Amino acid sequence: MSTGRTIVVGITGGIAAYKAVNVVRAFVLLGDDVHVVATEAALRFVGKPTLEAISRNTVHTDLYEGVAEVRHVAIGQSADLIVIAPATANSIAKIALGLADDLLGNTILASTAPLVIAPAMHTEMWNNPATVANIATLRARGVTIVGPGIGRLTGADSGPGRMEEPETIVAAALSAYDTRAYETRAHETRAHETRAIDASADLTGRRVLISAGGTREPLDPVRFLGNRSSGRQGVALAEAALARGATVTLVAAHLEVPVPAGIQVHTVSSTLDLQEAMLAAAASADVIIMAAAVADYRPAEVQADKIKKDVAGDRLALELVRNPDVLAGLVRERHPGQLIVGFAAETEPDDVLRRELGRTKIQRKGCDLLVLNRVGWTQGFATERNEIEVLDLAGDIVMEASGTKLSVAHRILDSIVVVAGTR
Ligand code: CTP
Repeated sequence: MSTGRTIVVGITGGIAAYKAVNVVRAFVLLGDDVHVVATEAALRFVGKPTLEAISRNTVHTDLYEGVAEVRHVAIGQSADLIVIAPATANSIAKIALGLADDLLGNTILASTAPLVIAPAMHTEMWNNPATVANIATLRARGVTIVGPGIGRLTGADSGPGRMEEPETIVAAALSAYDTRAYETRAHETRAHETRAIDASADLTGRRVLISAGGTREPLDPVRFLGNRSSGRQGVALAEAALARGATVTLVAAHLEVPVPAGIQVHTVSSTLDLQEAMLAAAASADVIIMAAAVADYRPAEVQADKIKKDVAGDRLALELVRNPDVLAGLVRERHPGQLIVGFAAETEPDDVLRRELGRTKIQRKGCDLLVLNRVGWTQGFATERNEIEVLDLAGDIVMEASGTKLSVAHRILDSIVVVAGTR
């Protein structure tokens, strides 16, 4: 499926150019339209046919080709994102100076798209004051510099200078693209808000109940089983709902972030505490959002005293019992007109399979909307940003959003307002 993005991958003349093929391939597999602009030197390291086969587009090098179609500016103007991988010390110096003596230089100058640079060079060149100053100039202009990594270089030497791995470059590039898209949207939203002030009060008179954070299940007086949820997304939802005029109650399990004034907070610890607080508050809620990461299991027994190694020995088996499904319980007890939203944290990397898991989950839980987000060691939890999809009961995606957790919270509330309005 096409993303509708046009990405220019600039390749300059370093041995890491062969790894740029995987950068191109990753974008193509994501559904991007990828145009490679290679310098003459780059083509000494990697062949044009390879790049054309992988990018599925003609590879351009020459400034004096396609003059009739003003190619030297057309490519830059059409780009939504420019990624230079590898970027040699020489090309970095040229970009910092704004030189345009080849097609790549012209493309960069003619573009307003986010620029992402993956340097690759020997350590001495990276540490040279000229390169240090050029990198500082580029960073100050908002250019994203990815790497370089530290490791074995082309000769016998090793140190900082290795081009970052393709997947790291692609991730940094997509993040630069998302940040720009978010800033553009925020700018448009601000412009829209000044025109239509009422749009920000679309939850006036609604009572919104949100759970946030991660529950902890005690093992003994000093230990617990927990999870990595910081509560950021749930608190952002509370903040956004408050800003849109709702009366907000937050059931908070071990938050790592402060809660804005004006929100009623019930502090809980374990899943059973959270269930009790949610069921008690649910009776007077119009909208319930279960953003908390709830422990599915708890220790069968909580030890009255600290577990001791000399008693437990070298291996310690814990017996766990299932916790109730709080969300499913809220759905069972719901009153007419009450709208219930669940979250699904999935580690499945494949988009299609993850959506399928989401579809099954919303049907199993019976809530009205399910916010699906991908989590992992570096994603979803304890970060400032999030990337989500909202599914309806049929399993169809009704909203996709990425950006800060506050902007994502507003998009989730947009979906809720739409569903509430159809009732
Ligand atoms: N949830 C809940 N009670 C539980 C477990 C989860 O209310 N015991 C809620 C979460 O707050 C979330 C939704 O159910 O809104 C989905 O949570 P998730 O952990 O993704 O799903 P599980 O139902 O636990 O299924 P699994 O972990 O097996 O994927």
